[in-house]
Amino acid sequence: MISDLQGRRAIITGAAAGLGRATAELFVAQGASVVVSDLDGDGAAKVAAELGDRAVAAVCDVTSADALAATVDVAVKSFGGLDVMVNNAGVEIGKPLVETTEEEFEQLMRINVTGTFLGIKAAVPALVEAGGGSIVNMASVAGIGGAPLLGAYCASKGAVVRLTEVAAIELKAAGIRVNAVCPAFIDTAMVDRLTTPFEAAVGMPFGEVLKLKQGRIGTADEVAEMVAFLASDDASFTTGSQYVLDGGLVAGLL
Ligand SMILES: NC(=O)c1ccc[n+]([C@@H]2O[C@H](COP(=O)([O-])OP(=O)(O)OC[C@H]3O[C@@H](n4cnc5c(N)ncnc54)[C@H](O)[C@@H]3O)[C@@H](O)[C@H]2O)c1
Repeated sequence: MISDLQGRRAIITGAAAGLGRATAELFVAQGASVVVSDLDGDGAAKVAAELGDRAVAAVCDVTSADALAATVDVAVKSFGGLDVMVNNAGVEIGKPLVETTEEEFEQLMRINVTGTFLGIKAAVPALVEAGGGSIVNMASVAGIGGAPLLGAYCASKGAVVRLTEVAAIELKAAGIRVNAVCPAFIDTAMVDRLTTPFEAAVGMPFGEVLKLKQGRIGTADEVAEMVAFLASDDASFTTGSQYVLDGGLVAGLL
């Protein structure tokens, strides 16, 4: 996929690891300046240091509107403004719904859904100031259909898809595009944590599930390419959409 982010100023939440980290690396390689933000401040600082002069770190818990506002300030002070907001931070719970506590459910919703909502709200004034921009929300195929053990997670990602659509419509006049990315299983620590409980739930080795449903595991770089495309002018007529990366999982009944 071709995209060019030369001169773009971006924030990526949850960028100390996994998909956020791969996205930060690609953005910088394509010419963007990036605020590498994460709850894990040391991890964010390490990634930013590796990426060089066009990356700065910010400690940011996406459940805090104040922390997100401070992260936007870092972009404005460091790079002179903001063109791209990637609401990537998210967590999983791998448990049957009836064993999930109310506190666990609410905490996951707070990070995955409220965090995305607050990320959109924090970014919009700076994006408007820049004359428009792009917001990319990390949803999941779990936002399109159900999967065992992922009840709270599926509910949260379904909400992220709907939030994306509403934000796209409401922000169209301001020249802000808003899209969601919906990956299937991608090779990150999140999937490592889910493998054992998932195998127990479906009674099948994880590798066999992957082979049957999506052919193979996806890579963080493949997801980063999609985010970079949506952030760029190559996606200039694209807003309010879901971009699925799943090796055909959602398409196939068998
Ligand atoms: N890996 C997959 O297969 C997959 C598939 C679909 C969607 N996703 C989504 O992609 C996003 C990234 O997932 P990943 O696989 O890279 O996960 P990961 O666990 O490897 O990395 C997540 C990062 O988010 C950070 N984080 C967690 N809570 C945070 C908070 N409250 N505020 C700020 N940062 C926080 C963590 O410190 C970590 O650096 C998530 O939204 C996830 O739901 C992942």
